[in-house]
Amino acid sequence: MKITYYGHSCVLVEAEGKRIIIDPFLTGNPAATVSPGDIRVDAVLLTHGHGDHFGDCIDIAKANGCPIVAVYELAEYCKSQGAEAYGMNIGGSQAFDGFKVKYTLAFHSSSLTVGDTVIYTGEPGGILLTIGDKTFFHAGDTGLFGDMRLIGEMNRIDAAALPIGDSLTMGPEDALVAAEWLRASHVLPVHYDTFDGIRQDASLYCERLAQKGIKGHPLKSGESFEI
Ligand code: NI
Ligand code: MN
Repeated sequence: MKITYYGHSCVLVEAEGKRIIIDPFLTGNPAATVSPGDIRVDAVLLTHGHGDHFGDCIDIAKANGCPIVAVYELAEYCKSQGAEAYGMNIGGSQAFDGFKVKYTLAFHSSSLTVGDTVIYTGEPGGILLTIGDKTFFHAGDTGLFGDMRLIGEMNRIDAAALPIGDSLTMGPEDALVAAEWLRASHVLPVHYDTFDGIRQDASLYCERLAQKGIKGHPLKSGESFEI
């Protein structure tokens, strides 16, 4: 499984010939190294509806003729925009063509602002994405919560994307605890440095992960690691 970071919370997961993008915020993302038109994928997964995660999902799904997978209300909104979408909800899993998705809790909020209107987009989630024998966990935007232990007990997480930016999500201290509780072998810090207010030292975070025996990957946008 190859994991490529495109800045903020956008991650491309490739394995077994499948290419899945999560939270494709590229237009307006100062760290993005690719354009939405360059993305070739089999599915778009969304953790929640906020603009810095929803991003270019509609254009990417339409250009690739692929589905968006999201929590029910967000999936319904995507359908209203002419995209193919599959609605799920927290605790549910679903097998798709060559990959499996399960939604977990995330303690955050979820909405999409279109013009002057704030649209309710259901609950926010985390995503367990399994392709072949590897599972990648994208925590979405979340604070630390105790059931991360349960998620770690019930799933073998090979790699996890965890927000470290603070202010809107966990900061580095809480994300260290999250990495331990999730029992993740590899951790990709996300949701930092995109804007003022969420600046963090990802290298220091990964050094502190290493002290706990966890391999951290402080990737620059466009860089990858394989597990
Ligand atoms: Ni958010
Ligand atoms: Mn966010």
